[in-house]
Amino acid sequence: MPKKMNLLDKLHQPFVIEAIKNTDWSSGSSKTPLIIELDTTEACDLACPGCISEDIMKTKNRFSNERLLQLGEEFYKNGVKGVILIGGGEPLAHPAVGEFMDYLGEHDIHIGITTNGTFIDKYLETIAKYSSWTRVSMDAGTTETFKILRPSKGGKSKFDSIVENMRKLAEVKTGKLGYSYLIQTPRDGQGIISNIDEIYKAAVLARDIGCDYFEVKPSYQFREGIDHALMIHDQTIMQRAKEEISRLDELTTDTFSVMKAINLDYSLQGSQLQQEKNYIHCPATELRTLVCPSGTFVCPYWRGKDHMQIGNLNNMGFSEMWHSQQRKNVMDRLDASKDCTFHCLRHESNLEVNNMLQTIKEGKDIIIVDEFDRFI
Ligand SMILES: C[S@@+](CC[C@H](N)C(=O)[O-])C[C@H]1O[C@@H](n2cnc3c(N)ncnc32)[C@H](O)[C@@H]1O
Repeated sequence: MPKKMNLLDKLHQPFVIEAIKNTDWSSGSSKTPLIIELDTTEACDLACPGCISEDIMKTKNRFSNERLLQLGEEFYKNGVKGVILIGGGEPLAHPAVGEFMDYLGEHDIHIGITTNGTFIDKYLETIAKYSSWTRVSMDAGTTETFKILRPSKGGKSKFDSIVENMRKLAEVKTGKLGYSYLIQTPRDGQGIISNIDEIYKAAVLARDIGCDYFEVKPSYQFREGIDHALMIHDQTIMQRAKEEISRLDELTTDTFSVMKAINLDYSLQGSQLQQEKNYIHCPATELRTLVCPSGTFVCPYWRGKDHMQIGNLNNMGFSEMWHSQQRKNVMDRLDASKDCTFHCLRHESNLEVNNMLQTIKEGKDIIIVDEFDRFI
């Protein structure tokens, strides 16, 4: 079977255990998040139909060059371990992102990048040197399909140039390079085509151009009052998707793996599975956070949602924001068991942190694994 990502081992690395032990869980205030997801800009050069960040991108806000570089310094001073450049918009479209990545890399803050891939060539050297992983969102195996699912603002397909960028990066990278494939099928009124029949072809391409992994992901939508509800697809198409995905096994080599995103199986089964949460306080919100030009939010599920905004780094320092009354108020109000009705990627991690806290409380030893991945 294709590999599933295991987030749980990561929590047993010494720097995470230290953070868990050093957090005052009664008031729920960690010293710093270990991982920051950062939208450098809310603008994008692509115009993908059904993009999950459509709303926030209407603002087209971005951090000023000066503020972005200051943020790097503040992350470093506060002990942040890793930054994921993501969006919102296209993180590599920010004019100061090259300098920013160099700063992080020089200060041992690990970098992960979720990108549409169009600007990779501009920052090839820096990405090759400092990015622990670069995951390019592709969702297609041909330029024709790409043009419909991930068109540029002018409607053209940048598929060939992005593939070329990935090929170049594969030759010089020190970190991992991934080809991300979001399952898409025709949906109400959006005129989106199915990309199911290209899954295998795309994975072959990914392997041939030197990617380390191919990741299949389920898509989400707003449904019945739930943001990030798993998309319900036609079951006949999903049956074909299952068959395509099961064929991916044969492509796996020592240097190329196939990843299944955590919630993919539920999506393939058309499952309405409710993910009940038996905890109020969400541990992940102490260990990670989401920084955007239009505000800092408890996590990506609440990107752009005012009532989950814990501050705004355009007009306050990072440490000030993290220890602010505003953040405390949001954290006091947030009830994961009621508010987080979506399938959360961090749920299993949260259960594990709560287990670890119980183990600590009982005075027992926690399993420790050597550091292997900062991106908890
Ligand atoms: C919104 S994009 C922003 C970062 C960057 N511009 C990119 O293209 O990767 C971040 C990720 O969200 C995913 N995404 C977009 N719309 C989605 C949806 N409706 N459901 C699930 N994921 C979605 C994309 O596939 C991409 O990997």
